[in-house]
Amino acid sequence: MTDVELAIGVLNGPNLDLLGTREPQLYGDHGLDGILSALDTLGEDLGARVTTMQSNHEGELTDWIRDVGSRQDGMLVNAAAYTHTSVALRDALLAAAVPFVEVHLTNIWAREPFRHHSLLSDIAVGVVSGFGPESYLLGLRALAAHLRPGE
Ligand code: DQA
Repeated sequence: MTDVELAIGVLNGPNLDLLGTREPQLYGDHGLDGILSALDTLGEDLGARVTTMQSNHEGELTDWIRDVGSRQDGMLVNAAAYTHTSVALRDALLAAAVPFVEVHLTNIWAREPFRHHSLLSDIAVGVVSGFGPESYLLGLRALAAHLRPGE
C-alpha cells in the first residue's frame, strides 16, 4: 500500500439494490451490501477510500457523477440497464473527466443482443464483465493500478 490514498467512487444503477433476490440464476445470491463491503475491505488493502452509491433514477446518477464522482480519483461504474441506453450518463462521465472502469456482474456479450452495446465502454479505461461480485474487485484492482502506474 502506498502513502497517498486514492478516492474511488462506485456507481450502481437501477435494480442493483435487488441483488440477492433478483434473477439469482444470473446475478447470484449476494446482496449489493456484501459486494460493497468486500470492496471497502479491498480498498483498505490497496490504500483506496471507496464511496458508493446506488440509485434507480437516471437524474440522481447523473447528479452524483457531477457532484461526487467528479471529485474522485477514479470510478467504478455499473450503470446496469442505463449502460445500454443513457446518453445522459455518458455525457456526465465525459464532463466529469475522471477515469473509470465499467463493471458488470454478468457477461453482457453472452446475453440478449440489446445488451451487447454499451454507451460507456469506449470512454472507459476498461471493462470487467462476467465475474459476478468479483468483477467489482477486479475492477478496483485494475483501476488502482491504472491510477498508480509503475507501482
Ligand atoms: C448488469 C448488466 C445489464 O445489462 C443489466 O441491465 C443490469 C446488470 C450487470 O451487472 O451484469 O442491470 O449491469
